[in-house]
Amino acid sequence: KERLQGKRIGRTVYFYPEIDSTNSVAFSLGHSGAGEGTVVIADSQSQGRGRLRRPWQSPPGSNLYTSILLKPPIEPAVAPQLTLLAGVAVADLLSEYCPGAIRLKWPNDVQIDGKKVCGILTEMRTAGHGIDYVVVGIGINVNIQKADFDEAFRDLATSLGVETGRVLSRLDLAVGLYDCFEACYVRYLAEGFAPLKEHWLKYARIVGEPIEVIFRDELQAGEVVGLDDNGALLLRGDDGLVSRVLAGDATVKKK
Ligand code: BTN
Repeated sequence: KERLQGKRIGRTVYFYPEIDSTNSVAFSLGHSGAGEGTVVIADSQSQGRGRLRRPWQSPPGSNLYTSILLKPPIEPAVAPQLTLLAGVAVADLLSEYCPGAIRLKWPNDVQIDGKKVCGILTEMRTAGHGIDYVVVGIGINVNIQKADFDEAFRDLATSLGVETGRVLSRLDLAVGLYDCFEACYVRYLAEGFAPLKEHWLKYARIVGEPIEVIFRDELQAGEVVGLDDNGALLLRGDDGLVSRVLAGDATVKKK
């Protein structure tokens, strides 16, 4: 904690050797009134979860599993912006380790050479018409080796350790992550979503790409026009109409 540069994120830290899910713990802490910037970090998770109800493998000793509690003064409709914010914060951090190689895949995967190195899961609790609190969960593959990945994921996932050929300190990464997150968050609160959107698009480089998004078994295809002001993806279909996509799994189609 002494090493953190910011004043908000990581002011209170809860560490667990093993926990069900750092997102669940941060969610209950939010419920019992914990302050903004409280973070939960675990060595391993027994019920780590990903988007679309997928499990998130969370073995001990190798990766970073952390959740950040936020109380942003924003409308629930724009909460997806926080997922994009987390992606930019992680991309800024990982760029220090792999300069120029980090790419964001909408809505929230962080990739190196097309392989996933980090996943982000944002969950919120609303009160009346506003946000009570938001939990941003971040899982970064740190020292897990290629051979450790499930067969099915070997070509789809990577780790910072594999990419840099070094054994990395998870503490250094956590401290760096909270600092990068704080820098993005403070700027977002002061200047709004516009600069963040530009920053995100720079890492994503998807404008003009043909893409397919599947959500709840429905397929939407088109060319990426950009992001709207809530953080939704804007797709232009073959008929020229632009539609908004709020969630789903995206695949960039080869031209
Ligand atoms: C995804 O890509 O599907 C999102 C994965 C999010 C995983 C992290 S690990 C820390 C936090 N706790 C969880 O249970 N999930 C998130």
